[in-house]
Amino acid sequence: VFMRNVFKKRECTEYVLQVIMNKKVIIGNFKMNLLPNEVVLYIENLKKDIESNNEIVLCVPYVDIPYASNIVNDTNIYVGAQNMYSREEGPYTGEISVKMLKSIKTDYVLLGHYERKLYFNETEEEINKKLILALKYNIKPIVCIGSNESLENEINMILKDIKKECINNIIFIYEPVFSIGTGNALDKNEIIDKIKLIQNIICEKYDEKFNNLTLGYGGSINSNNVLDIVNNDKINAILVGSSSLNEKEF
Ligand code: PGA
Repeated sequence: VFMRNVFKKRECTEYVLQVIMNKKVIIGNFKMNLLPNEVVLYIENLKKDIESNNEIVLCVPYVDIPYASNIVNDTNIYVGAQNMYSREEGPYTGEISVKMLKSIKTDYVLLGHYERKLYFNETEEEINKKLILALKYNIKPIVCIGSNESLENEINMILKDIKKECINNIIFIYEPVFSIGTGNALDKNEIIDKIKLIQNIICEKYDEKFNNLTLGYGGSINSNNVLDIVNNDKINAILVGSSSLNEKEF
């Protein structure tokens, strides 16, 4: 009603409402790419080109975070880390803690990416500890699921001891292993089926009807297939790897 009164013209109102209703979280995962000066240039270019009302999250390497977070003020671009350690502090040489991320203005953190499991033997127990810390320190977690044979086991392990009130603060991304970096994005209908399944598992676990979960998909998304994937109200976040490295493509 407010929009209708402000904009008067029906077309304009409909457009604004549509944009609001369809707002998505678009996440770029740079992995181990781009130096601080390259990330700064990327963001400056993105700011010039951007016409989107969506929330854009750039998960950049740790060393790039301070440079990135300094130049995204007053934009819809947010800065994320790609990992963090599962303990708060202590003798863990080479690790980065949640408090360190907080101190350099990190808004989001990617947790449980398949490459962390593949190359660093990360377990669901570790991911669960990290999730608890991210929620405690108010860094928004983006949790990747889809690499365990049982989605139900995976979700239950990751959400162990996570309170019901926190569930709406987590972004859940379904990323099937065979779609990551292979060029084989999952068919949209299959993605929607998995997303419904994930929603059901979470609702059953908490015996609660969550209607505002942020659920999304990742794996071989590019500018050719993205519209087909996001053009529905079930998929409200996407995680983009290699196609996020060039800001024009992203
Ligand atoms: P991709 O990577 O888009 O290159 O498949 C996705 C990811 O690793 O999150």
